[in-house]
Amino acid sequence: MKIFTILTILALTSAYKITQLKVPLYADPRRAAELICDFQMNDETLHSVKWYRDMHEILRYNPSQKPSIRLFNVTGINVQGGECQAEWCMVRVMPLPFAVRAAFTCEISTEGPRFQIARQTKQMTVVAMPERDPVIIGAPKLVRPGEHVLLNCSSDFSLPPADINWYIGNENQKQEQWQRTELSLPQAGGLRTSWRVLHLAVPTVESGALRVRCEAALPVEPPVLRDTSIVLTLYSRTQLFSKYVANTGARIDFQLVWATMWVYVLIVITL
Ligand SMILES: *[C@@H]1O[C@H](CO)[C@@H](O)[C@H](O)[C@H]1NC(C)=O
Ligand SMILES: *[C@@H]1O[C@H](CO)[C@@H](O)[C@H](O)[C@H]1NC(C)=O
Repeated sequence: MKIFTILTILALTSAYKITQLKVPLYADPRRAAELICDFQMNDETLHSVKWYRDMHEILRYNPSQKPSIRLFNVTGINVQGGECQAEWCMVRVMPLPFAVRAAFTCEISTEGPRFQIARQTKQMTVVAMPERDPVIIGAPKLVRPGEHVLLNCSSDFSLPPADINWYIGNENQKQEQWQRTELSLPQAGGLRTSWRVLHLAVPTVESGALRVRCEAALPVEPPVLRDTSIVLTLYSRTQLFSKYVANTGARIDFQLVWATMWVYVLIVITL
């Protein structure tokens, strides 16, 4: 308890510190990301600022040297430039088109002879977000009990590509050998779409509705999810007639009569 108190007081009274580390949680592989370290020295003198990606130094700022900024191009990151002033230091990096997570650290140090340092680290993941929800094709509005339907759900382009999950009601549908998530060829930046079919056997119940949901999940931390739902209406012949009869008694709902007639015609044709 005492130690914590002393440490807290030390931290609060320490004159130099990193006030804010701006590292985006996600970086788009198609654009450069700017990482900014804000700091204050108060009565201390700044010796240097260093940016690291994981353990590798990518930028060093020494205000007393010429040139004051030096960039280090380490494998796995393309360092594009940097700009530093008395209270902030920015590094611009081009994320490589692989879905990877990296730790970026900003480290400031005071002038000798003490060379005290302060540092902060934040994680950044290379992710190209899908711009739209997944799309389900092959879904008839009305289905008959016992009918077999093949649905196809495809996601938007993303990096990493999305895993497709199907749900009937709230039940996750297991991936079968022949209906796994498939990937398209990569676009610029490594983005791909993915798709997965669902073979649906409509239950043999008299009536009701089936809610089918397709989820596109990017396997990143924290997770990115997008989904689309459709409702398949089950129509049985007996239900059609009972609805029609029930409505003729009182006030005729023309829309319903029109719709049910169409369903009836469709069923007669398909039978
Ligand atoms: C780092 O390497 C990339 C490609 O290898 C190059 O485009 C970029 O200009 C280099 N940056 C520096 C600061 O040398
Ligand atoms: C599912 O949709 C995707 C994307 O539109 C398409 O490339 C694929 O061939 C379709 N699969 C089937 C089995 O229809």
